[in-house]
Amino acid sequence: MKKILITGGAGFIGSHVVREFVNKYPEYHIVNLDALTYAGNLENLKDIENKPNYTFVKADITDAAHILAVFQEHQPDGVIHLAAESHVDRSITNPTAFVMTNVIGTVNLLNAAKEIWKDNFEGKRFHHVSTDEVYGTLGESGLFREDTAYDPHSPYSASKASSDHFVRAYHDTYGLPIVLTNCSNNYGPNHFPEKLIPLCIHNILNNKSLPIYGDGKFTRDWLFVIDHAKAIDLVFHNGKNGDSYNVGGFNEWQNIDLVKELCKQVDEKLGRPQGTAAALITFVKDRPGHDLRYAIDATKINQELGYQPSVTFEQGLSVTIDWFLNNQEWLDNVTSGDYQKYYEGQYVGNS
Ligand code: NAD
Ligand code: DAU
Repeated sequence: MKKILITGGAGFIGSHVVREFVNKYPEYHIVNLDALTYAGNLENLKDIENKPNYTFVKADITDAAHILAVFQEHQPDGVIHLAAESHVDRSITNPTAFVMTNVIGTVNLLNAAKEIWKDNFEGKRFHHVSTDEVYGTLGESGLFREDTAYDPHSPYSASKASSDHFVRAYHDTYGLPIVLTNCSNNYGPNHFPEKLIPLCIHNILNNKSLPIYGDGKFTRDWLFVIDHAKAIDLVFHNGKNGDSYNVGGFNEWQNIDLVKELCKQVDEKLGRPQGTAAALITFVKDRPGHDLRYAIDATKINQELGYQPSVTFEQGLSVTIDWFLNNQEWLDNVTSGDYQKYYEGQYVGNS
C-alpha cells in the first residue's frame, strides 16, 4: 500500500486535499500530520476521520526530532506539504513565526524525507504547496508564469519563497524528487474567517462592518478550494520531477467588486432587500506593502496535465455562502477565544 503523508491537513486547503485523497484512493494510506494551531481544526475532517485508510498525527514541523520519528514510524512514500502560517496580516505582526514554520519546518520535512528514503528515491515524491505571492505584484497587465522571477514583499511571501528555494535546492543538490505548485487565492467551505471572503460572510451575519483595505482596487485571482485539491492530485501523480506548476482560475476580481458581489448573493439567499449587506462596507487603513494585483497564467498545468477548474466562480461562491449559512456553529467555534483578540488588534480603531 502506498503511504502518503500530508502536512497541514487540518487546515483550510489541507482538509480538502486529505478528503480528496482518502475518498479517491482507498488503496493508499493517508497520514495527516498537523500541529492544530489556531488554523487547524479536526472538525473539518469529521466525515472521514473513521475511514480505515486515514490516520491523524499531532506534530509540529518545527520539531525536527519529532518529525523524523513520525517519518520513521510511518515510512511515507510521498509527502504533500501544506502546513504553514498562511495569513499575510499575521506575518506583518509576527514575522518570526513564519520563518519558524514555513522555512525551518519545511527544511525539517526535507531532511526527514531524505533520511528515511536513504537517497534511494525510486517511487518517492515530495510535493511542496506554495503560493503565487512569491512572484510579488503585477501592474495593471501581465500574468505570473512559472519562469516569472521571485520578488516577495510580505514576511509571509518571503518565507514561502525561501521554502520554495530550499525544496529546489534539495532536488538540485541531493536529487530529492520534488514538484511544486504555486496557486492563487482559494475560497470555499472551512475557510478561516481571517481571510477576506469568510471574514466578510461572518461579519455580514453578525451585522459588523466589512473592512476594505485602501481603495479596494487590489486584485486577486480566485479559485475554488476543491479545484486546488484536484490540481494537487494531478501534479502529485503526473507532474514532471523537479518542475513547478502555477494553478489559478483565470478569475480576477478587484476586492471591492468581489465584496459587493458577495453582499448581493448573501442578501438574495437571506431574502433581504438588496443593499442591506453592502451598507456595511467600510474603507479602512491599507495593509503595509500591499501587493496590487495577482493573476496566474495556468497554461502549463492545462496543456501538460489537462487541468481545468470544475466550477465557475458564481457556482463556487454560491456553494461557499451556503456552507457558511449552514455551518454557523463551526463559525461560532472558530471565532470564540483567541480570534476576538486577533480581530480587535487587527481592526478596532483601524480606519
Ligand atoms: P491554513 O492556515 O488554513 O492551515 C494551515 C495548517 O497548517 C493548519 O492546519 C495548521 O494547524 C497547520 N500548521 C501550522 N503551523 C504548523 C506547524 N508548525 N506544524 C504542523 N502544522 C502546522 O492554511 P491554508 O490556507 O489551508 O494554506 C495551506 C497551504 O497552501 C499553505 O502552505 C499556504 O501557503 C498555501 N496556499 C494557500 C492559499 C490560500 O489562498 N489560502 C493559496 C496558495 C497557497
Ligand atoms: O495568493 C495566494 C494567497 O492568498 C495565499 O498564499 C495566502 O495564504 C492567502 O492568505 C491569500 O493571501 P491574500 O493576502 O491575498 O488574502 P486575504 O484574504 O488576506 O486578502 C485578499 C485581499 O483582500 C487582499 O488584497 C487584502 C484584502 N483584504 C483582506 C482582509 C483580510 C481587505 O481588503 N480586508 C480584509 O479585512
